[in-house]
Amino acid sequence: MTSVPLVLGGREFPVPVVLAPMAGVTNAPFRTLCRRFGPGLVYVSEMVMAAALVHGNERTKKMVGFAPEEDFRSLQIYGSDPHFVGRAVTELCSKGLVDHIDMNFGCPAVKVTRKGGGAAVPVKRNLMRAIMASAVEAASPWGVPVTVKFRIGIDDDLVTFIETGLAAEQEGIAAVALHARTAEQHYAGEARWEAIAELKREVRTIPVLGNGDIWEAADALRMMRETGCDGVVVGRGCLGRPWLFEDLVAAFTGGDVPAPRDLGFVCRVMLDHAESLCSLMGHDHGIRNFRKHAGWYLTGYPVGADARRKFSMVSSIAELSRLCAELDPSLRIVEGGARLRRGHTNGPIKVVLPEGYLDSRDDLVVPDDNDVVALSGG
Ligand SMILES: Cc1cc2nc3c(=O)[nH]c(=O)nc-3n(C[C@H](O)[C@H](O)[C@H](O)COP(=O)(O)O)c2cc1C
Repeated sequence: MTSVPLVLGGREFPVPVVLAPMAGVTNAPFRTLCRRFGPGLVYVSEMVMAAALVHGNERTKKMVGFAPEEDFRSLQIYGSDPHFVGRAVTELCSKGLVDHIDMNFGCPAVKVTRKGGGAAVPVKRNLMRAIMASAVEAASPWGVPVTVKFRIGIDDDLVTFIETGLAAEQEGIAAVALHARTAEQHYAGEARWEAIAELKREVRTIPVLGNGDIWEAADALRMMRETGCDGVVVGRGCLGRPWLFEDLVAAFTGGDVPAPRDLGFVCRVMLDHAESLCSLMGHDHGIRNFRKHAGWYLTGYPVGADARRKFSMVSSIAELSRLCAELDPSLRIVEGGARLRRGHTNGPIKVVLPEGYLDSRDDLVVPDDNDVVALSGG
């Protein structure tokens, strides 16, 4: 399939594939692992809070760390105050810490939307524009592109994605990404790719990226074909399967998509991943952080409940290595295993907005969401 390279801030990405920002997942070790399988793609960090960046929060500073081989450093920020967003972007760009900034306008978590952040931002269209403008103004002297990621809307009665895409285009945003679900849907049901097609028809001057339910490389090509989008954003499909990016590069460049990996291969990647988490976070924190990944790596492999339970409680690299040695390395993933849902799966949810939030969609009242310390992302 021939696709047009994705251009972001003067950098060309011949294979228009982006790793979705995922809180608690897309840290430097995970991005580096994915990048090794798919060099030359865009890999976005976990989201960090604009206000925390400005206040110099230690944990946030750590989250902004990139590995030396990350030659295109993409960071997602969350913020609903144009002032803080501008200051955070200036801080990041002036110190040369990033090459690309993505903004989160899609997080549906109650603790975020009830303060007017994340998925609630597009409802207040003027404030949203002010946030975009502030980020772009702060980033442009440094040549850093700003992109925006959002959902279809709050629910089927409050659909904002076209308006958001057009605003982005007018405010100098470099590309938009649509997670084709409403906030209410959360992660339930199928992503509605027809909304991506609709956005692509309306937004004519900047790339439109599609997101939602790309589990295998063929899904990405199908999304491009069916929606006309300019690139794809891949989230849960790569959880426990970072080699999906190798498959995607092959699919986009007309190569042969590698055969499904056997469990011996999976175990080698697991150990590698766990080791790099431990070196970043320290052994205990790293191995605890790895436990959820272990479950994802084993998804679709018929290893049995007992092995799964042991992996979910693994407490050292040595133990992980022993557990791997007990598995049959020739085991293959079951038919359809790559498509088994993981990461977030639930929905629909009740979206909570601040009181009186819908009385006017045009005011510029900045929500008081400084105490939202990020968590579960978008
Ligand atoms: C564990 C997890 C954390 C997430 N965190 C974020 C986040 O911080 N920012 C964001 O914009 N989206 C976040 N998302 C949403 C994904 O970026 C993506 O939009 C969503 O998973 C749909 O794509 P998929 O079907 O390919 O997974 C998160 C998703 C998961 C599963």
